[in-house]
Parts: sequence; structure tokens; C-alpha cells
Amino acid sequence: MEILHTSVMLNEVLTHLVPCSPDALMIDCTLGEGGHSEAFLSKYPELKIIGLDRDKDILAKAGQRLVRFSDRFVGYNVWFDEFLNSYDGIAPSMILFDLGISVFHYEASQRGFSFRRNEDLDMRLDKDGDICVSDVVNTYHQEQLADIIYNYGEERYSRRIASGICEYRKSQAITKSDELANIVWKSVPAAYRHGKLHPATKTFQALRIEVNQELKRISSGVKRAVEIVRPGGRVAVISFHSLEDRPVKYIFKQFAQACICPPDIPKCECSGTPTVKLITKKPLVPTEEECRSNPPSRSAKLRVVEKLEQPL
Ligand SMILES: C[S@@+](CC[C@H](N)C(=O)[O-])C[C@H]1O[C@@H](n2cnc3c(N)ncnc32)[C@H](O)[C@@H]1O
Repeated sequence: MEILHTSVMLNEVLTHLVPCSPDALMIDCTLGEGGHSEAFLSKYPELKIIGLDRDKDILAKAGQRLVRFSDRFVGYNVWFDEFLNSYDGIAPSMILFDLGISVFHYEASQRGFSFRRNEDLDMRLDKDGDICVSDVVNTYHQEQLADIIYNYGEERYSRRIASGICEYRKSQAITKSDELANIVWKSVPAAYRHGKLHPATKTFQALRIEVNQELKRISSGVKRAVEIVRPGGRVAVISFHSLEDRPVKYIFKQFAQACICPPDIPKCECSGTPTVKLITKKPLVPTEEECRSNPPSRSAKLRVVEKLEQPL
């Protein structure tokens, strides 16, 4: 079995997540091909891991990779926010999120994640999910499309791109990834076509976020992870763009501060107590060497918090 994805910031993750006891439990919320999990299971011979991934195909790959640890590893095909929100098992020592998608998705899933390929425009992690990207681009109103591309892609030409999509679909449905990339290319000013990023990069990110509801899941999942991790345990999140990092930073900060009263209240009314300590006050980033040897790691940021033994 060919492994396509190189785990990001593996050394930093291994340094900052250490089991509270030899037979501790870890939840790997974004298992992917299982690279991070494999490193933890190899390093800690009694550690148990629950691995989660909403993508059945990649979960099966991870299952094969981790088969030698099958007495200590179990994988579930679930959204991490849904799993964590209904979790009432043993409190885990470590919870890891390595957000976004894997090289597998771009290179081998054949679901249209890459604008460089001629594949069906799908981008669902859950192949049974209700809507795929071709539904979005062929049926959403122009305004709605523009808002998605702007809000989830931070794309400054969102309105022109939405207009290009709606004009094109008057004559034929948009079904392929490279077809959409072409529409975007033609919709943006010529000067924007030859920048560092392909002009379709942000539009593709936005549409992927929309069909998988990624941002809503991050906020809900990370918040719940902090609630369920055991005292002394840690939650680590690797994010790849500001829309992912912002909610994580905010949630960690909220849990780390004592008072959560609105700033215009003269006296504290919440009697709040911090429940976590920020281990990374500033996010950690990959070394230059890692960025060189694994370019997809370039934009990674790692944030870690530790649950306090007793609220201060
Ligand atoms: C960056 S990859 C993880 C790579 C993995 N850490 C490794 O080292 O091989 C992220 C994985 O998380 C999955 N994923 C993303 N969001 C998810 C969610 N909300 N619930 C469950 N799985 C999710 C994706 O399908 C993808 O396989």
C-alpha cells in the first residue's frame, strides 16, 4: 500500500503530546492515512488510540497501515464533532486534530479536490453526504455563491467568479474540476492569473469547506475536545489557513482566561476560572527543513493547550 501523505510537524506533535500514564488513551480526530497515530503507537507500547475519519477510503488505508496495532487501535468512520459531542467514554490524555484534507485526497481520491485534474466535481469527505460541489455550483444563487467564495476562500474576486459560474451554467452544467478551474481563470482579471497561487485555489477551498461544513465542525469539535480531555491531558490542533486557525485560537483563549464577561461590564459576574493553560502562546510553525522537504506543511500552525488539574 502506497502512503501518499507525510505527517506534518510530527516531531513537534510528539514533543508536546505525552501520555499521562503508560496505558493512556488518545483520540486522533483526523486519522487520514494514520501517520501521526502510527508514530504514537510505535513510541508508546501501551497507548491506545481511537482514530476518526469521515472518509471511508482513507480510513480503510489507515486500518491496513495500523493492523499490527489492532489490539490498541480502533478506527471509526464519523465526523469528529459528532463523535466527540456524544462521547462519554474514558477521558483521553491526548486529542489531536490535523485539519483539512490529505495528499491522498488531491492525488488519489478522484473526487475533484484538485483543480489540475479532470475529475467529477464532488469534494465530499462523506461520499453519502447530501450535497457535493457540482450541486453547489449548479444550483446555488449567485449571491450565495459569491458569499461562500468570499467567506470561506477570502477571495477578493468572489463576485466576478460567482458571476462567471452563473453565466457558464446557463448553457451547460459544471461537472468537472478542471472545467470549474477554467471558469474561475476566465472570470478574474488577467493580472491575477499569474500570481503565486493558481486563481482557483481559494474558490476550491471555499467550496470544499461548504460541502463538508468544515468550520462549524472545527469550532464544535475543538471546544468539546477541551471539555472531555482529562486533567493534565492536552489538546493539539494543526491548522493550515487563517479560517481554521482563528476559531482554534479563540476557543483556546476563552478556556484559558478567568473572566468571560463582556468587556463593557464594570465588575466580573461570571466568577469564571481558567480550565486550560496555553502551552503554545504563539503557534508553532514547521522548521525550514520541513517546509523544504514537505511543501504542503508550509502554512501549518500548531497550537496546544493543557487541561488544568484543578481550575485555578
Ligand atoms: C491532514 S489529514 C490527516 C493526516 C494524518 N494526521 C496523517 O499523519 O496521516 C486530515 C484528515 O481528516 C479528515 N477529516 C477532516 N475533517 C474531518 C472531520 N470534521 N471529521 C472527521 N474527519 C475529518 C480528512 O478526511 C483527512 O483524511
